[in-house]
Amino acid sequence: MRRKLVVGNWKMHGDLKSNQTLLESITNGLQNLKNADYVVCVPNPYLFQARELLTNTNVAWGGQNVNQHEQGAFTGAVAPHMLSDLGCQFVLLGHSERRVLFHETNLTAAARFDASIKAGLTPVLCVGETLAEHEAGLTEVIVASQMDAVMATLSDEDFAAAMQVNMVFAYEPVWAVGTGKTASPEQAQTVHEFIRNRIARRNSDAAAHVRIIYGGSIKANNAKQLFAMPDVDGGLVGGASLDADEFIEICRLAN
Ligand code: 13P
Repeated sequence: MRRKLVVGNWKMHGDLKSNQTLLESITNGLQNLKNADYVVCVPNPYLFQARELLTNTNVAWGGQNVNQHEQGAFTGAVAPHMLSDLGCQFVLLGHSERRVLFHETNLTAAARFDASIKAGLTPVLCVGETLAEHEAGLTEVIVASQMDAVMATLSDEDFAAAMQVNMVFAYEPVWAVGTGKTASPEQAQTVHEFIRNRIARRNSDAAAHVRIIYGGSIKANNAKQLFAMPDVDGGLVGGASLDADEFIEICRLAN
């Protein structure tokens, strides 16, 4: 039985004051929920604050992206060990906003995935098709190409390391991100099952254990049906993770 996982992605929102209120409400609201895992991915400048407010709670924290290099002349970039240093357990990779707005590719996602697992971080690899791809019936082709680009770079040893840190996949159809349009539970299930089968081609035991979470306009009023699907192991929550009550309710539904 896979434990459910809910990850909040704050994107570029927040400030010291509002973060404190939000994090305190979340930790209060979640303190008695023991049957799932909870994470918030905050903007890098607030990782220190997340560490301060979330240490010794049941809410973990993570980065929203990371660079593949260990150090060097990479102005503006953050290395995996820097996230680890600040107590991050998780890092989002290949988010559609990174791909579309910052021109990141499957290749950068693959390099970052590899660097993250080597630093002991749990990568959450985001995959998903655009609306045009969806309408053209290309969902599985796109998702497969995004996954294979990462899987192909992992040696057997790397793959074992990825299992060791409990790598996560997130299916985020781009047409559902921030649009208020959610994939139906059945649509999500179909793609999640496809992702699991793809992992099984490499290692069936790993496929049975890997958590595959859904993202794209998850709210308290649609999370229950999504989480009820057999291959939906939780959620990657954007907008609703900025509202304490909504986020707590989504976490409660995963519990
Ligand atoms: P929304 O929940 O705001 O649609 O965002 C989803 C997302 O991009 C999470 O990474």
